[in-house]
Amino acid sequence: MQQQLSNSFNKVLVIGGGLMGGGIAQVIAQQGIPVVIVDRTSEDLDRSRARIKKMITRLNGEGAVEEVLSNITFSTSYHDGADCDLAIEAVPEILELKLEVFRRLDEILPPNAILASNTSSLSIAAMSSVTKRPESVVGMHFFSPVPIMKLVEIVKGMNTSDETVEKIRLFGEMMGKEMIVAKDFPGFTVNRVLVPMMNEAAFLVMEGNDPEEIDRGMMLGTNHPIGPLKLADSVGIDVLYNTCMSLFEGFKDSKYRPCPLLKRMVEAGHLGKKSGQGFYDYGGEK
Ligand code: NAI
Repeated sequence: MQQQLSNSFNKVLVIGGGLMGGGIAQVIAQQGIPVVIVDRTSEDLDRSRARIKKMITRLNGEGAVEEVLSNITFSTSYHDGADCDLAIEAVPEILELKLEVFRRLDEILPPNAILASNTSSLSIAAMSSVTKRPESVVGMHFFSPVPIMKLVEIVKGMNTSDETVEKIRLFGEMMGKEMIVAKDFPGFTVNRVLVPMMNEAAFLVMEGNDPEEIDRGMMLGTNHPIGPLKLADSVGIDVLYNTCMSLFEGFKDSKYRPCPLLKRMVEAGHLGKKSGQGFYDYGGEK
């Protein structure tokens, strides 16, 4: 008889309580599941707590804050998560750092626990191979802001088992997310399609086209809710350039070469909305 998979985990460990890790912890805690956030210092944890508080207040009102936070433990020690059956890593996008996190998680968590990474571009296969449970290592790629964005890409590495993918799918659905499965190649599914589109729009600007005309064209001609250049400004031109580079290096295919205009914009400090200037001028508004 086939074993019935539970749609949940009893306790979840989140490594890195930044923008993504904090959001991930919040959506899990909102389901009444205990979460432990581990970050480097108590200052990092204070920042994490404050950001989560602000997001809950914005989305659910101040009255919801205490209940959600009561399910989250903030700690600088992995050992507070030693009884978790799922860990989700959301530390900065540096492979060496992630490999170190996976080695430690593998040492400390029970052998049947699943180890997931929120990486947006690094190899799940590489992370799995530093553990003794490569079949239980998987990508769980959330989108920002996590409590608002519906999608999670499940990244199935070369070693990831079908059972691991299924458990993560059920868990994500239980949190109200929509799950898709993507293979473990640079950009997964969404960025693989989206990033070349924004890059191509940058080439059009470099050739002398007007950003507003391009964005209007894409919105009216393809029903996109926002044009690629407005979107690029909001993602950050530096983030777009780096993601383009990681596709280019990952596939060694010239079709992913970043537009030289993006590089110049990064050098000039025109990083989009966050710097006040990108393809559009945001003046004082950031
Ligand atoms: P962030 O910089 O906001 O957060 C990273 C957190 O990790 C910080 O709180 C930092 O103190 C902590 N940290 C650093 N080293 C650590 C260590 N050794 N142990 C424990 N904690 C440590 O970064 P963000 O944006 O949350 O990104 C995290 C991951 O999520 C990256 O892999 C990124 O590529 C991925 N991602 C980011 C998205 C975004 O829109 N920002 C979207 C999807 C994925």
